[in-house]
Amino acid sequence: MAHLLDIERLNADTILQWIERALYFKHSRQFPKFNGKAMVNLFYENSTRTRVSFEWAAKRLGLDVIHWDSAASSEQKGETLEDTVQTLIAMGIEVFTLRHKEEGLILRLAEQFGQQAHFLNAGDGQRAHPSQALLDAMTILAHKPKLSELKIVVLGDIRHSRVANSFQCLCQTLQAGELVMVSPPIWQPKTLHYGRVTDDVDDALSDADVVMCLRVQNERLGTGEALDVQAYRKDFALTALRLKQAKKDVLVMHPGPMNRGVEIDSDVADGEHSVILEQVNNGVWMRMALIEALLQT
Ligand code: CP
Repeated sequence: MAHLLDIERLNADTILQWIERALYFKHSRQFPKFNGKAMVNLFYENSTRTRVSFEWAAKRLGLDVIHWDSAASSEQKGETLEDTVQTLIAMGIEVFTLRHKEEGLILRLAEQFGQQAHFLNAGDGQRAHPSQALLDAMTILAHKPKLSELKIVVLGDIRHSRVANSFQCLCQTLQAGELVMVSPPIWQPKTLHYGRVTDDVDDALSDADVVMCLRVQNERLGTGEALDVQAYRKDFALTALRLKQAKKDVLVMHPGPMNRGVEIDSDVADGEHSVILEQVNNGVWMRMALIEALLQT
């Protein structure tokens, strides 16, 4: 059965077909129905956008969405995640979304149970968040279709960001023109998939077509990786003044959730260049396209 595990396993044609399908759903409001199929969201980390949009996407496609809550499940009595998945498969559930802090767990589950169910990665530790990268690409391409001519900047805590990881892979597969990741040295990535890394915000933002701001992920910082918020703000926050260095039609993005007044100012997040809520909206259509693609394979 087909799965969405990460961006690395996808080719450009597949990515562009899925984006086209998501745009078709968005503009036509014509959807296929998969009545009788069921999806369960296994979320072991908090979420608003990903969890709700996967649920809404599945419901729009006629799937039943089964409520599941780790804190109220038999895992609290010692049942393993593997036994949980087997149990849910035995009930006839075919589609699983998983968000978990353990990197690669979804790869193991897909290996073990992938003949019986579809697995969708909804956030894999700091490694991957492929559906986010796909909806980000959908949003950029809707405004600026020639990716190969764009300067795209990712600003913030790159090292701990699964969003940045998947986005780098996507930019590589779709051959984005220039990808610049800008962050303080302590939050620069240990592994680079595509683009370049700098701590020079002014150089990065100069003539940028797209600026994607990332959350300061305090919950993921290791020993010695914490930065003083005011020091970070002074040098790296996306302010209206800094944004003036970018192109006049720059797109401002943020995967959310945002820390207003930390990595991004409210007048930028809510300003004329912001497509942040469009990203959220596109997330539903993109996840519909993903669920459909998996169920049809
Ligand atoms: N972008 C993102 O994954 O947001 P949530 O944590 O709200 O799902």
